[in-house]
Amino acid sequence: MQQMWTEIDAYIDSHLIPEDPILLYALQNTEDRGYPDHLAVAPNQGMLLQMLIQMNHCKRVLELGTFAAYSTLWLARALPDDGYILTIEGREAHAIVAKENIEHAQLKPTIELQVGRAAELLKALPDDTEAFDFIFIDADKQSYAEYLELSLNLSHSGTIIVLDNVIRAGDIIKSDNHKPSIEGIREMFTALKNHPKILSCTALQTVGSKGHDGLALVLVK
Ligand code: DHB
Ligand code: MG
Repeated sequence: MQQMWTEIDAYIDSHLIPEDPILLYALQNTEDRGYPDHLAVAPNQGMLLQMLIQMNHCKRVLELGTFAAYSTLWLARALPDDGYILTIEGREAHAIVAKENIEHAQLKPTIELQVGRAAELLKALPDDTEAFDFIFIDADKQSYAEYLELSLNLSHSGTIIVLDNVIRAGDIIKSDNHKPSIEGIREMFTALKNHPKILSCTALQTVGSKGHDGLALVLVK
């Protein structure tokens, strides 16, 4: 099935995703630096993130898990010139590539890259930090429930939170799988259920060039 999913993603991309030299450079540079491409969102998923931001006229974006900033560039593409992204990456080696890709892109919105453990950095934000309009959670899956809670604290009514990789090829329902990453995603699902700060939420399975996975979508009350 994987081959067909990849071919269909290529078909979708060739029709619907404009070739963008900045995004292509980021992918190529990331590969040249020896990093695998499966950690980045697929182009058609990047476009979905961009559309969610455009639909909601978001200006302030928070991203947890920059990796090489491919998704960051999609988020930035969606913003007005005075938009702002705070993106947090846990690994210095990834952040080096992310910085190169962000600098090469020369986009108008401000992109602030912080390196360190996302939970600590979020807790250290000044008390008067303005709420974010859109939050993309794509960092270590083990901490997803914690990231969700911290993100809700940095949200306003109407903020959209998207969480990547919430299906993991079905591992989340395999009861003998107790990997911290999988347990972390299950904790996130439990936290989403009847959360007092959430107006509505869902999760969608996805198949494509990145395999079988899924996205959770949250609208803050
Ligand atoms: C992994 C992490 C991701 O964010 C992703 O989109 C795909 C894979 C991983 O850690 O394996
Ligand atoms: Mg991901």
